[in-house]
Amino acid sequence: MTLSNKEALAKKNSRRYFWRRLLTGAASLRDSSRSRKSLFLLLFLWACLYCLWPILIGSGDLDPLAPFLVGYGRLMLLGLTVLTVTMALALMGTPPGYVTVQEGLQRAGFVNHIGEAPVLIARRADKDNPKLSLWEFDPCGIPLTEWEDKREVIETALNITVVRIAWGHSRSEILLTSVAASGALPAVIPWSEAYLPPGPSELALGDSCTGRVTVDLAKLPHVLLGGSTGSGKSVMLKLLLKQALYKDADVYIADFKGGVDFPPYWHEKCHMCFEEEGLLTVLSELVNELERRKQLFLEAGYSNIDDYNEYSPHELRRCIFACDEVAEVFDKAGRDKESKALLSQIEAKIATIARLGRAFGIHLILATQRPDATIIPGQIKNNLDCRICGRADSVLSQIILDSTAAADQIPKDTCGRFLLHDGTLIQGYYFEDTLR
Ligand SMILES: Nc1ncnc2c1ncn2[C@@H]1O[C@H](COP(=O)(O)OP(=O)(O)OP(=O)(O)O)[C@@H](O)[C@H]1O
Ligand SMILES: [Mg+2]
Repeated sequence: MTLSNKEALAKKNSRRYFWRRLLTGAASLRDSSRSRKSLFLLLFLWACLYCLWPILIGSGDLDPLAPFLVGYGRLMLLGLTVLTVTMALALMGTPPGYVTVQEGLQRAGFVNHIGEAPVLIARRADKDNPKLSLWEFDPCGIPLTEWEDKREVIETALNITVVRIAWGHSRSEILLTSVAASGALPAVIPWSEAYLPPGPSELALGDSCTGRVTVDLAKLPHVLLGGSTGSGKSVMLKLLLKQALYKDADVYIADFKGGVDFPPYWHEKCHMCFEEEGLLTVLSELVNELERRKQLFLEAGYSNIDDYNEYSPHELRRCIFACDEVAEVFDKAGRDKESKALLSQIEAKIATIARLGRAFGIHLILATQRPDATIIPGQIKNNLDCRICGRADSVLSQIILDSTAAADQIPKDTCGRFLLHDGTLIQGYYFEDTLR
């Protein structure tokens, strides 16, 4: 693009932004009493000037030019009124600091291919959460994926922590949600029982920049938890299971690391299994329970556990099956015929629970660190709606979240930081396993 073409485009754009700001300013009259008062004051001053004009110019009745001077002057005043009102509206529609924002992005190199930085159209506090700021940008042709890729550049340029980047009302606007840089997530948030959510099937995960994040198993019945080694999977798993125990759920744990992750007091409170035969027995019990509940609901005329528990005198407990390294169970490579058959049976039981468990209050929490796309069978993975991914490489992130976002957004040196299926970044509560 030639220099003159660039200049012509820049002029055209600044005209476009002027009209846009004018409309935004006019719209702000509806919501802001301060804007309304300012405009009223401006109009009042011009009205006073209009009325007092003959006195101010001191034209007498005998002056033959008096009507002309008064009329001409008043016409000028009307013109100036229109001009100043227009400027005032454009000013009201201009977000404070927009030049600094644009210069900051330009300096950081966040520009389109002709060197233009995105233009800030509006900036306001979120009505529902005043800790959050909403920034509306004209992306100037920079696609959403590039905004996500350059999240860190934007954060540094604007001195903020970005919570979310999304399209605005249309594809010509980007809506960026942020908190102040000092509002970034802390490295550790110790778990406290005070964080236990009130809902019977709700479990707390951690804090996002905007507050506590929970998962309701009644809505998202099964969890897939991933992350590379040392990312905090076991701590998160135990955090969820501990809360499930508080809520009187029956907890089943498959632990193929010989019990090192689950000290003896877990064995007293949960059904543990340490090898594959035991696992098949536990899963068969759960599938039988599922079938029993199905029959029970059919006879009693209820469609799910919440309805059943509300109206029936005998409350059913939720059952939670957790497996810390589920790839061990699904990987049949190098196994003999007999153990392959056993693993197939285990897989079939897990698939049944994944498919039907929601209504009957039987849930799965499966964790994995293996970046192997084929390890978790598709029909099981598709039913694990709640996805939680810790620090991971792009392959593992893709497996858990169907995007590389965890690899991009979770720094390599953090533990307990997780990205959820809906794009929420959290610091998981740090549950120290010394509690009884
Ligand atoms: N929520 C958290 N907040 C702060 N630090 C954490 C958190 N969770 C875990 N950590 C730290 O990370 C370490 C590793 O956690 P954890 O054992 O849960 O990882 P993991 O993903 O299960 O690893 P592996 O795959 O090797 O089993 C913990 O010892 C702890 O120091
Ligand atoms: Mg672990």
